[in-house]
Amino acid sequence: MAQQEDVFKKIVSHAKEYGFVFPSSEIYDGLAAVYDYGQMGVELKNNIKKYWWDSMVLLNENVVGIDSAIFMHPTIWKASGHVDAFNDPLIDNKDSKKRYRADVLIEDLMAKYDDKINKEVEKAAKKFGETFDADLFRQTNPRVLENKAKKEEILARFTAALNDNNLEELRQIIVDYEVVCPISGTKNWTDVRQFNLMFSTEMGSTADGAMKVFLRPETAQGIFVNFLNVQKTGRMKIPFGIAQIGKAFRNEIVARQFIFRMREFEQMEMQFFVRPGEELEWFEKWKQTRLKWHKALGFPQEKYRYHDHEKLAHYANAATDIEFQMPFGFKEVEGIHSRTDFDLSSHEQYSGKKLQYFDPELNKSYVPYVIETSIGVDRMFLSVLSASYCEETLENGETRVVLRIPAALAPVKVAVMPLTKKDGLPEKARQIIDDLKFDFKCSYDEKDSIGKRYRRQDAIGTPFCLTVDHQTLEDNTVTIRHRDTMTQERVSIDDLAKIIGEQVSMKTLFKKIAE
Ligand code: GAP
Repeated sequence: MAQQEDVFKKIVSHAKEYGFVFPSSEIYDGLAAVYDYGQMGVELKNNIKKYWWDSMVLLNENVVGIDSAIFMHPTIWKASGHVDAFNDPLIDNKDSKKRYRADVLIEDLMAKYDDKINKEVEKAAKKFGETFDADLFRQTNPRVLENKAKKEEILARFTAALNDNNLEELRQIIVDYEVVCPISGTKNWTDVRQFNLMFSTEMGSTADGAMKVFLRPETAQGIFVNFLNVQKTGRMKIPFGIAQIGKAFRNEIVARQFIFRMREFEQMEMQFFVRPGEELEWFEKWKQTRLKWHKALGFPQEKYRYHDHEKLAHYANAATDIEFQMPFGFKEVEGIHSRTDFDLSSHEQYSGKKLQYFDPELNKSYVPYVIETSIGVDRMFLSVLSASYCEETLENGETRVVLRIPAALAPVKVAVMPLTKKDGLPEKARQIIDDLKFDFKCSYDEKDSIGKRYRRQDAIGTPFCLTVDHQTLEDNTVTIRHRDTMTQERVSIDDLAKIIGEQVSMKTLFKKIAE
């Protein structure tokens, strides 16, 4: 675990050092849980967005995109349930004046019992060596069983408290299990209160009577309220989908783990409108398709898993998360929800406008059911960065840090390097870039030894480095070096666009999804 935390710290500092992610407002000591993407980060982020967008609107004839505004009529958030129910239970420590999410304190408490169990198992494994049977030990060791029972007892109380929205009981669990504030070390807690996660601001001047508006906490509602606009103007027939990428804002209280939980972040959401009664079939289809999208990137398949929800939101009749193994454990990257007709019906009710579809085959009108796929761009970015980060010891004893980013997503596709700064080699290198730059993000580098230049490109995940040497001037060939294998081959300059193009194209990924 400690080793994993180390790796995570290294990834965070690598992201900063190489221009992927900077803390926001850094010269003013930062702004908690807000981040800026740097020159490399924005390229990777744009490529992730393109991969998602094209997989939606190119691969599916019946999926179209929109780009709705961040500000929306405030009643939308009443209809969606966000005004009344988009809350976190908060508790303050009276001595440190620090605020915590009560549910997170309890989750951390349960994790401590898991840690204790794992430590017992590790200790016994060392003691008994090869003959050790970890499963049997977990089932029989009295200390393990005691800790397991405690954790289960807390879990049962916690689940019941959440189901009943019982804030007093949440506090009581914290008190009963003597949870202390990590800052003050005391158990002096306030009551638990609900805290709404939406940011608000005012629209219009105060003299005219300003209207309180919210910064959208999800992009989905912009799709729901445009459902009929798109259906009518696009002559869309059910089933069809509307996709959108955009910023969302949440006043997260526990903001930690870098870009995993941010206050300003980006979502890629698609709402797929279907006939009532057919939603579970479509839910299964989108569940499979979305996992294929993730897996097509080629990271180890065991890094992904589904987490099917047992407890469903009142408006959902099926829900699953796609979780990815981050350096701090398996975490949700994407949610796929069968949202029934909840949102459209609720908007019908609050707006007084009909949001129905006339189905010519059934010869009747209905409010469509919806399957939602919702993925965070930043979480996807973090998963790509952490799965790509690799420290290797080379044959000569040196180490290299390489980002094995899938070539289609890499920020820079090709670096062109003249072996020396003279004899016309820089000019030849520039000529090559002038040819390739229309298709690929290229970088020119003539400083330092070739070895150092390779290391710099490895650190940002550039899949190809081309070296221009004296032979290039004679026979119009260059060496192409492959990032992952570090192998080099001599190829004709005329073939470069084809060789690179095949490797960095998203087409290969899309074919895997469409299989
Ligand atoms: N429209 C459904 C919806 O918004 P959600 O599970 O709250 O569902 C969807 O969010 C996705 O948005 C999550 O799976 C996650 O990837 C991303 N996300 C949510 N909150 C986030 C935050 N504070 N920071 C970064 N990403 C977040």
